[in-house]
Amino acid sequence: MKKFLYGFLILVTLIIVGILVVLNVDPFDPFEPLYSENCAGCHGTDMMGVENSGPALVGSVLTGGDSVTEISRSITLGAPGKGMPAWSDELFEEDIRALAIYIAERRVDRLFTDFKVDASLTLPKGVVKSEKENFTVELVTDRLDPLPFSIAPLPDGRILVSEKMKGLRIVSQNGEISELIRDTPEVHDDNFELILVWGWGWMLDVELHPDYENNGWIYIHHTERCTDCVLPPRSMNRVVRGRIREGRWVDEEEIWAPGEQYYSFIPDVAAGGRLAFDESGYLYISVGIKGRSNFHDIQDLSTPYGKIHRVHDDGRVPKDNPFVEFELAYPTTWSYGHRSPQGLEFDPYSGELWSTEMGPRGGDELNLLLPGRNYGWPLYSKGLDYDGTPIEYGKQLGIEFDLNDIEQPVVDLTPGPAVSSFTLYRGNKFPHWENSFLVGSLRATELYRIVLENNRYVRSEVLLTKLARIRDVEVGFDGLVYLLLEHADGGQIIRLVPSKDQ
Ligand code: HEC
Repeated sequence: MKKFLYGFLILVTLIIVGILVVLNVDPFDPFEPLYSENCAGCHGTDMMGVENSGPALVGSVLTGGDSVTEISRSITLGAPGKGMPAWSDELFEEDIRALAIYIAERRVDRLFTDFKVDASLTLPKGVVKSEKENFTVELVTDRLDPLPFSIAPLPDGRILVSEKMKGLRIVSQNGEISELIRDTPEVHDDNFELILVWGWGWMLDVELHPDYENNGWIYIHHTERCTDCVLPPRSMNRVVRGRIREGRWVDEEEIWAPGEQYYSFIPDVAAGGRLAFDESGYLYISVGIKGRSNFHDIQDLSTPYGKIHRVHDDGRVPKDNPFVEFELAYPTTWSYGHRSPQGLEFDPYSGELWSTEMGPRGGDELNLLLPGRNYGWPLYSKGLDYDGTPIEYGKQLGIEFDLNDIEQPVVDLTPGPAVSSFTLYRGNKFPHWENSFLVGSLRATELYRIVLENNRYVRSEVLLTKLARIRDVEVGFDGLVYLLLEHADGGQIIRLVPSKDQ
């Protein structure tokens, strides 16, 4: 009964939200009134401009620049001689930033309430031209569960794929999908039909041991759910390794498991859930804001939440982990203050660990992960909270901090595309992409190529646009780029193949 009522309430809410989205009203967008009250008179409710009052802010070049910082500057200073008031005296700084984010989102047609789960999906036909490499897009399969999470290409060309609410499968080179691998850790399909983002007890990242070809170890990051619970349930991240033999998951060993005392009501969408190995065989594990009660847990070093963890490949705690000397600290902690770490990769060339992290509204980040460092959530973010207020939970939580002690992102991706996973391209098929970050996004449904030099942002380009929610990005043993797409009609794996037509 309880389950029914819960599902029913969510369904009703979703239907209402659905209707409003279809009608193209932004019912829950707190930034909207700020715009309509102060700006729409001159720039138009649709931002298309009003004759003799103000220019269009979307579909046109902004002379003052179109980054969030530049738009904020245009609003702050105005152009008083030309009819644009300076807003620095009228509005708070955070309101100006909210407006800049709102305008930037509109410019890329990214509605706050639109998750693009069932947007129409057509793969580009013919050659896609980009700055350095031209390529075609090939479909491997479109018959996955709508919510896959991770792909791990195998040396023989097959691909391991995890589906959040189903489990683990193998996709053959020609796109045939295996049955679910039996006996993998239990997952739960709460089956609230429309709800694509909620759940407790999911299969998340799947990753091969660096020496997989000799030892056959496969690592699974999943969330373990309470066995005797009523709705809403509780769950927590856990990592195991095992091997696959004749369609079965065998030899399972537990690698990292905080256990029942850390089970949390916060849904698994906040679990993070990635894995990465470095060249010495240490395993890194990303855990998001699955705190028990409030954000305090994220800055609390004694909890596993909002942290990147580091263990030996068999789960032992490395003696040189940054906080092992602190008796109260969670010993596997590598770095902390993470919100929603969606991507995690080690770069064997530079010996550096990188992550992508989804911010609140704006504030998506590409981070270099250094040992013992604080990445700021929920004390500080370049994004704003969903209600338009700045991120400064330190006041509420009674945590004092110095902004200089917070590690800033190498790349600030505001307005947030809802960044997902990424890979650092290393392979022989796209020589001009060598060392580029290929970064996926969910809401923006785009694939980006980001170039850094000496760990500083140099430039970026959009490789694919209007695609689908990209959940994972990997380079195969064949050097091709594989993307994992979420879609209501069936998840897909596609690959980018270099075009002879360069
Ligand atoms: C009284 C009319 C008026 C109001 C109110 C007004 N603007 Fe403007 N705005 C203008 C005009 C005119 C310009 C062009 C100025 C110029 O030519 O340099 C402009 C320019 C801008 C630009 C820079 C465009 C570019 O090309 O770089 C931005 C951004 C902007 N406005 C945002 C806002 C926001 C946000 C608000 C509400 C807080 C607002 N404006 C309110 C008239 C207005």
